[in-house]
Amino acid sequence: MENSPEVAVLRLGHRPGRDERMTTHVGLTARALGADRLFVEPAAAGAEGTVSEVTDRFGGPFEVESTDSPKTVLRDWEGATCHLTMYGLPVQGVEGEIRKAHREKPLLIVVGAEKVPFSVYERADWNLGVTNQPHSEVAALAVFLDRLFEGRELDREWAGAIRQVVPEATGKTVESVEK
Ligand SMILES: C[S@@+](CC[C@H](N)C(=O)[O-])C[C@H]1O[C@@H](n2cnc3c(N)ncnc32)[C@H](O)[C@@H]1O
Repeated sequence: MENSPEVAVLRLGHRPGRDERMTTHVGLTARALGADRLFVEPAAAGAEGTVSEVTDRFGGPFEVESTDSPKTVLRDWEGATCHLTMYGLPVQGVEGEIRKAHREKPLLIVVGAEKVPFSVYERADWNLGVTNQPHSEVAALAVFLDRLFEGRELDREWAGAIRQVVPEATGKTVESVEK
């Protein structure tokens, strides 16, 4: 988000067909809730396209980058890294430390699709759980980003949008954005 070091999300793994919606929703959630960039594997080209289209229409900035070596992205990340996993330390215990680190440096958030290799647990500065119950990478990412930004992401301004939703108690209005 503006005025703070980068937040990127690394989607580890993508099973074509089965993970299509989940990877797309990881990207849409990352974008909507304040992250700056998403890394996906080449198999997730469909999700990459959908998230880029939404950004073109509803604004950014938000980048989607395809990488055939997610492990290299994680290994070489110059900043802090946290891995969202049901096996990790409770988010409410570590969010303060992570916010403090992110004031100084970029943050990479890793979410899995299937079984995540143990090397990721070893490389991450934090392995954190949004509860220690199994649920979804989309839900975990949403809760974590909201904790990271302490709600500020909800008031974020969007740049470069050509369409915007008019908030209404009832109704569905989308209008063109005046340049
Ligand atoms: C459906 S889970 C599959 C996890 C897989 N069974 C494993 O052992 O790694 C997919 C992803 O959701 C995220 N996730 C699921 N439950 C979570 C929780 N309670 N806290 C944080 N992340 C969670 C993790 O990023 C995980 O890699």
